[in-house]
Amino acid sequence: MRLQNSFKARHDDIILVSNPKCGTIWLKALAFTIINRSRFDFDHHPLLTHHPQRVVPFIEIFQGNNDLSNIEKLPSPRLLATHMPLSLFPESLATSNCLIVYLCRDPKDVFVSRWHFDNKIVVGYNKIDLEVAFNMFCEGFSENGPFWDHCLEYWKESITKPEKFLFIKYENMKSDPMKHVIRLAEFIGVPFSDKEQQDGVPEEVVRLCSFDNLSGLKTNQIGELSRDDRIVLERSAFFREGKVGDWVNHMSQEMGRKLDHIVEEKLKGSGLVL
Ligand code: A3P
Repeated sequence: MRLQNSFKARHDDIILVSNPKCGTIWLKALAFTIINRSRFDFDHHPLLTHHPQRVVPFIEIFQGNNDLSNIEKLPSPRLLATHMPLSLFPESLATSNCLIVYLCRDPKDVFVSRWHFDNKIVVGYNKIDLEVAFNMFCEGFSENGPFWDHCLEYWKESITKPEKFLFIKYENMKSDPMKHVIRLAEFIGVPFSDKEQQDGVPEEVVRLCSFDNLSGLKTNQIGELSRDDRIVLERSAFFREGKVGDWVNHMSQEMGRKLDHIVEEKLKGSGLVL
C-alpha cells in the first residue's frame, strides 16, 4: 500500500521480476552488467566488490531512509527489481511503458532453494520442517501469492505484449546463457554491436555473472545482509548449488510428482510448462 501511494514509475524503467529463489540475483547481475558495460571494465567491476542484491534495488524493500528516496535519485533508465505479483503493481508502474523481464524456474527447485535459504536467515524467520513447508507451498502459501499464479500473470502478458514482457526460464538460461544474454541486451534496448560480439563481450558478461565466479567472491561469501533491519541473513545464502534438478537430493519422488501434478493442473491451457 505504501508503494501504491508513493512509487512514481518512469517510462524507461526496466523492472526485473521473479518469485524468490528463481535466480533473481543472477538476473540482477546480468542486467546490471549488460546495461553498464561501457562504464565499468570487467577487471574492476562493481560486482567484484558489491553483492548483486545491492546493485539493483527492490522497489518493495525500502533501504536506508525507509522510503523510496534512494530509488527516486537514480538516473534514468533505472534498473529495478521486484517479487510482487503483477496484479499488485503500483498503478503508475502498471500503466507505464516500462520493460519487464520475468524469470521463472521449476517450482521443485524453487521450493528446495527456498527451504535452505530460510534456514540461513539469522534474524526474522522461524525455521520449519521440510515436509511442513512443502505442504504449505503446495497449498499456495507464499509471501507473493501462489507460485503458479505469479508465473501465469506474467506469462499471459508476455504472450500478448512480447515487446514489453520478456519471460525467461532459469533452466533455459543455464543451458545457453550466451543466447539469453544477447536476447536480454536486445530486449532492454542495448543490443551488442557486431564489434562487441567479435570481441567476446557477451562471453565476458556470462563469465562475470556465472555461479562459479560470483559465489567465490568475498563480497558474496562473508558477512550478513539486512532488509529493512527486520531480516538479517548470510550473504552466502543467495549462492547454494546453482543447479537444475537439485530437488531430487532433498525431496522424495512422490513429493516431486505431487507438486508437478498441482502445477500442471494450475497451468492447464495456458501454454506454460514448468
Ligand atoms: P539454489 O538454492 O538452487 O542453488 P534468488 O536470487 O532468486 O534468491 O535465487 C537463488 C538461487 O539462484 C539459488 O539456487 C542460487 O544458488 C542460484 N544462483 C545464484 N546465483 C546464480 C548464478 N550466477 N547462476 C545460476 N544460479 C545462481
